[in-house]
Amino acid sequence: MREALEELQRKAAGEAASAKSIEEFLAIRTRYLGRKGLLTDALRRLKDVPPEERPALGKLSNDIKESISKQLDQALEDIQSREKYDALNEEGIDVTLPGRTRRYGKLHPVTQVDNEICTIFSSLGFSIVRGPEVELDYYNFEALNIPKDHPARDMHDTFYVEDTIVLRTHTSPVQIRTMEKQRPPVRILSPGKVYRPDSDISHTPMFHQVEGLLVDKGVTFGDLKGVLTYFLQEVFGKDTKLRFRPSFFPFTEPSAEVDIQCVMCGGSGCRVCGQSGWIEILGSGMVDPEVFKVVGYDPEEISGFAFGLGVERIAMLKYGISDIRLFFENDRRFLEQF
Ligand code: DAH
Repeated sequence: MREALEELQRKAAGEAASAKSIEEFLAIRTRYLGRKGLLTDALRRLKDVPPEERPALGKLSNDIKESISKQLDQALEDIQSREKYDALNEEGIDVTLPGRTRRYGKLHPVTQVDNEICTIFSSLGFSIVRGPEVELDYYNFEALNIPKDHPARDMHDTFYVEDTIVLRTHTSPVQIRTMEKQRPPVRILSPGKVYRPDSDISHTPMFHQVEGLLVDKGVTFGDLKGVLTYFLQEVFGKDTKLRFRPSFFPFTEPSAEVDIQCVMCGGSGCRVCGQSGWIEILGSGMVDPEVFKVVGYDPEEISGFAFGLGVERIAMLKYGISDIRLFFENDRRFLEQF
C-alpha cells in the first residue's frame, strides 16, 4: 500500500509537470484527485489494511494528497504564465521599438506676427477690438472723410457686395465704430482681415491689417512718434532707424508714412528697398477734425493719432520672404519653418 501511494505521488508529479494546456491539467487533476480518482480510490482501500497500520498509512495518504495538490497548483501557475507569454509573443508587439511621435501643429506666421503686434500694444495699454469684414460704405469711406467721387477712393480698389455694402478695404472703419460708442479717452488696436481686388507678388485679395487709435486731451505728434518708434524697435530691433515722411490720408491731418531702414541691406540699397535704403512700413497721422465731428467729438477739446499697417508686410520683412502669396498656399514645407 505504501509503495502504491508513493508510486501515485511520483506519477502525478511527472504528469503535472508535463501538462501543456489548461485542458490537460484539468484532466490530470480529475484523474488523481477527482471523486473517482486514483488517490481517492487508494484512500478507500485503507479500510482493507490491518488496523494497527492504518494511522501511519492514513497520515501518509493525507500528506501525499496535500503534496499532489500543491504540485498541481504549481503546474497550473506555470501553464497560465506560459499561455500569457505565448499570447503576447503571437501578437507580435516589440516593446523595444521606438514610439510613433505626433506632429504638432503651429500658429501660422501671419497669426504669430499679429499676436506679437497685439502683445506690444497691449503692454502700452491699448485694448484689442474687432469690427465686421462686410462693412457699410459709410464706415469704410464716408465717415473717414472719403465721400463718393473723392479721388482718394481710387487708392482703394473695392469689392462691392451691394451699392452701400463693401468688403472693408482697411481696418480704419473700426475707429469710427469705436468712437461712436465710447467717449474719450480711447486707446484701441484693431487687427483683422481686409480685402482689395489685387494679386501679384506683393498683393493678395485678402490680407491683414492692424489699426491703432489713441484719443485724449493734449495728444501730440510727439506722442505718435514716441509710440510708433517704440513699437517698430520692439519688432525690428532696438537699433532700427526710422524716418517719418509727410504723406496724405483723408482721415488724418497732418499725415505721415513711416519708413524703416531696409532690413535686407541695412540701408545701403538693394532690390527689396528699390535702392533707396528705406522701406515703407505704415501710415499714420493726427486724426482729422472732420472725423471727430462725424462721431460727435469736439476737436477743440481733444486730439488723437491713428495708424494702420499691413501684417503680411511686416512678416515678410521680419522673415525675409519675397512673395506674399506663400502665406496663403499652405505648403507645409513653407509653414513648418516658423
Ligand atoms: N487705412 C490706411 C490704408 O489702408 C492705413 C492708414 C493710414 C491708417 C493712416 C491710419 C492712418 O489710421 O492714420 O492704407
